[in-house]
Amino acid sequence: MEKKSQFFTTPIYYVNAKPHLGHAYTSIAADVATRFKKMDSQDTYFLTGTDEHGDKIVQAAEKQNTSPKAYADQISQLFQDLLPLLHIKNDQFIRTTDVDHIRVVTAILSKIYDAGDIYFSSYEGLYCFGCERFYQERELVEGKCPDHGTAPETIKESNYFFKMSKYQEWLIDHINTHDNFIQPAQYKNEILSFLKEPLEDLCISRPKSRLTWGITLPFDEDYVTYVWFDALVNYISALGYPDKELFKKFWPTTRHFVAKDIIKPHGIYWPIMLKAAGLDIYDGLNVHGFWNVKGSKMSKSIGNVTDPVEVTREFGVDQFRYFLMREMVFGLDANFTEDVIVSRINADLANDLGNLFSRVLSMNTRYFNGKIMGADAASDPNYCLEANAAKAIEDFKTAMELCQFHKGLASVWTFISAMNKYIDTHEPWSLAKGSHISALGTVLYNLIEGLRVISCLIYPVMPSTSKKMQLALGMDIPDKGFFNLDQILPWGQTKPGTCLEKPEMLFPRIEIKTTEPEKNQPVKKEKPFKPALKEEITIEDFAKIDLRAGTILSAEQIQGSNKLLKLMVDLGPETRQVIAGIGKSYSPQDLKGKQVIVVANLKEAQIMGEISQGMVLAGNHKKKMILSGFDKELSPGNPVK
Ligand code: ME8
Ligand code: MG
Repeated sequence: MEKKSQFFTTPIYYVNAKPHLGHAYTSIAADVATRFKKMDSQDTYFLTGTDEHGDKIVQAAEKQNTSPKAYADQISQLFQDLLPLLHIKNDQFIRTTDVDHIRVVTAILSKIYDAGDIYFSSYEGLYCFGCERFYQERELVEGKCPDHGTAPETIKESNYFFKMSKYQEWLIDHINTHDNFIQPAQYKNEILSFLKEPLEDLCISRPKSRLTWGITLPFDEDYVTYVWFDALVNYISALGYPDKELFKKFWPTTRHFVAKDIIKPHGIYWPIMLKAAGLDIYDGLNVHGFWNVKGSKMSKSIGNVTDPVEVTREFGVDQFRYFLMREMVFGLDANFTEDVIVSRINADLANDLGNLFSRVLSMNTRYFNGKIMGADAASDPNYCLEANAAKAIEDFKTAMELCQFHKGLASVWTFISAMNKYIDTHEPWSLAKGSHISALGTVLYNLIEGLRVISCLIYPVMPSTSKKMQLALGMDIPDKGFFNLDQILPWGQTKPGTCLEKPEMLFPRIEIKTTEPEKNQPVKKEKPFKPALKEEITIEDFAKIDLRAGTILSAEQIQGSNKLLKLMVDLGPETRQVIAGIGKSYSPQDLKGKQVIVVANLKEAQIMGEISQGMVLAGNHKKKMILSGFDKELSPGNPVK
């Protein structure tokens, strides 16, 4: 059977400023969608690029005392450099200053002109230079451009117009008969309601007397094209319109990713341009909302333009990708703040996924020296994970096909919870104590299988973490770097007998910066309770103490003391020797495997000739020491707060 094909595009971004969070989002979304389609055994092609003509670029270049082309080269490079940094794997990067692109724009203009859909006429109107377009009086807010807050200028000039009105009924019909043409549905409705009013013809040129940085019209060399007629054509010029194989194969399968700011050009001008030029219409638009930063639209004047390079540097690439895909409901606006990203990373990644992963592999190391046991169905009557995995894969697939990335991830996280519950129900540590080796091996095998499933499903969003997990799980990663969706099941693909290393931590927790109390908050005068124990300390003082979960590997009596025990404690990345005064309360054989709280940054000390690298916490009850611990098992090294 022939493979299905899929062509995805992002908008080509203006080079009037460096890339920000919004650009990163659209490009990552298209990358995630592409990687998902590959997993679904489809042939994909993924295009992004930069939009380099127009007044704005000329003005930005002038400010820097450079030529428009030199300026465009410099900013376009920033967009190109961002791609590998965000682990975005595009197949092509197009620039509207490429000669091949210019050739295609010229050809399309000629085609539509020859067909009689472009005419010359004089026009007087209110023009906003910031938007590079004419405004109707009713579109202005208090006489000013709603986007720039500046009064538009009255301009009278002769220009070329594109007869969009001629195609209005055709477009309405096309949208109504092609269900997925604009999705999600709210944007389809927005376009349809706009089309209830008569469509005006589109001014597609600028006289060279006013703007030279553009593509010359093939039928009048005193004019250049208007921005959109140039920019939209990138989607077909990149594929080698009219006769390249890429174009034939991929053009009918096109889905354009855009945000809601540019649905009019994409949902109205573009299909009509294609229709007028006698070309197939693209398959559809995937429209998303805006990222607001600290509650408002990103803008230089507010100073909340978020740089994706900085966010990635601070939190990590996969963390950033996960956050963007999980936090935004595709189609709606979302809010970016440091608090939200930190809590997503700590809760979903460090806690849910990261802990599960290290917990399972540590138990496998502890109980079986890292060797994967086989599954014995009879020894696990509560077995349920395979059905959960099948459901997760199915829900993931349905959601990802509709670009509902947040839902796709949520279905994986539902499975992660099922895995954690499976651990709690089966209590591997109790099986170990009771020497139920076969049941213990089976439970761990199923957990490892579950991790295998998760590692496959997170690939589109977190390709590096997927790989890290698969290497640690000893999986044979295919050369293409991922497993197809239909290869994930059946259950039981992990080979028993494989030995696994103890893995590195997947996601370090992000320490939350404590903020000083606001100055204008009322000062609390009375403190109802003051503990009469020790001198009060601040949270900063307390934060200096590095408390960790540790697992006691071995314990022995120290010669010449009945009180002191020498403990070897597993702290995750390292094993520590700790001398503890608990010998009268615990005998060494009782301590093996016990979890304790360790002060991990205590200065090294010598006690009875032995080095002590830390301290374990204990309380005192009727002269007996009682070790502190946890009511659930944690992976060794886990910070305690
Ligand atoms: O419009 N939230 O380029 P552009 C989410 N050159 N996405 C955002 C965003 C935000 N706050 N801000 C920008 C242009 N974007 C034209 C396009 S296409 C033939 C020509 C993303 O640099 C989103 O994808 O203004 C939006 O549609 C695009 O950047 C606009 O980029
Ligand atoms: Mg814009």
